[in-house]
Amino acid sequence: MRTPYLRCAACGKTLPATSPRADCPCGGLLDVVHDVRRTGAALRSRFDRRRRDGDRTVDGSGVWRFRELLLPGRGPTLTHPEGNTALYRRDAVARWVGHDDLALKHEGENPTGSFKDRGMTVAVTQAVRAGATAVACASTGNTSASMAAYAAQAGLPALVFVPAGKVAAGKLAQALAYGARTLLVKGDFDACLRLAREASDALGLALLNSINPWRIEGQKTIVWELLQQRGWDPPDWIVVPAGNLGNTAAFGKALREAHGFGLVRRVPRVVSVQAAGASPFYRSFRGGFRRRYRVQAETVATAIRIGDPASHDRAVRTIRETRGLVAAVGDREILEAKAVVDAAGIGCEPASAAAVAGARRLVREGTIRPGDSVVAILTGHILKDPGVVMDFHARAGRHRNPPVTIEARLSDVARLLKRR
Ligand code: F0G
Repeated sequence: MRTPYLRCAACGKTLPATSPRADCPCGGLLDVVHDVRRTGAALRSRFDRRRRDGDRTVDGSGVWRFRELLLPGRGPTLTHPEGNTALYRRDAVARWVGHDDLALKHEGENPTGSFKDRGMTVAVTQAVRAGATAVACASTGNTSASMAAYAAQAGLPALVFVPAGKVAAGKLAQALAYGARTLLVKGDFDACLRLAREASDALGLALLNSINPWRIEGQKTIVWELLQQRGWDPPDWIVVPAGNLGNTAAFGKALREAHGFGLVRRVPRVVSVQAAGASPFYRSFRGGFRRRYRVQAETVATAIRIGDPASHDRAVRTIRETRGLVAAVGDREILEAKAVVDAAGIGCEPASAAAVAGARRLVREGTIRPGDSVVAILTGHILKDPGVVMDFHARAGRHRNPPVTIEARLSDVARLLKRR
């Protein structure tokens, strides 16, 4: 079959890239299979030229710049554009982590404030080309915000399923504002995903969760873009927060292909970091991946409050192939990491901070060694979850910075300045 095409990871069945299905009829997950004529230095220089000369359209997008290895071909491309996110280095964060060579790739700088835009631009584009008439997803918030925005651009009705009372204010506001029909489901994310899968099958909606292989294709570009930013010199470690495990799966595929097509000679180790209260993948890792677990998830990082990750098998492959690791960090560590990233003037949402807390854990254990290069992925913007920020600074703690109410007079200001 002409590439790219889809292949089921469970039964091996193949489908054309124009298939409207998000998963295989057998229930297995589909992978996109690629082949390209150009490889190695020729491919690198093509991507580099587009990065250098691309305008704010398809070539300039940090996703579509890599289109040969995503979704090539004709038809409309729904791009914002997205990607081109910065790699930051900040002494205060490096000091807290205890490691000098630490960079933060800020995916919160995408158009709707999270990495989801990278997957969504490809998945909505493919859905439009495949003739979709409506799109749907389950979400802890960011996926729904992103899908709503791209659906609006495409002129498609969007239906989102989110856990009632467990979505951060910024994300819910976005889904509503961009015009998605938003259903607050009495249940957790895992229940939302079950319902969204059922509804998509029964009602003919295009399902755009990360079980959709085109989402994975777009999210590969987080890794490719960071390799490109480093002049195609891979870091030793890439650390990423993990919930439904779509991103962990995408990172493995990105590295497998980057190596297979000669973009890099060496592959970094991927570390997936879960919140301790939502860590079925960590539990499975600890048991040598002999078993898959489902848990009742609870964590302050609502983005990764997921107990039964859909991309488990794909993510296992990533950890195995990259000699990677899985870590779990408590809510207190997550909030402290977030406070440090925020106070460095960068800022991120709680789930993103799990990556930084995870890096610190591995440095302290001696797993990440002095001299190793580390890139942690900040997955979402600080303004996604203002509620957590206000709560944190209202409570006692080392990093707190509560607001102060004063009378409208100079003496109050002077008194406060003196007290500092
Ligand atoms: N970080 C943020 C900010 C997220 O929103 C998510 C997932 C993750 C990390 C974890 O990524 O699921 O690929 O392992 N958010 C999904 C959503 C579940 O619905 O927005 P993952």
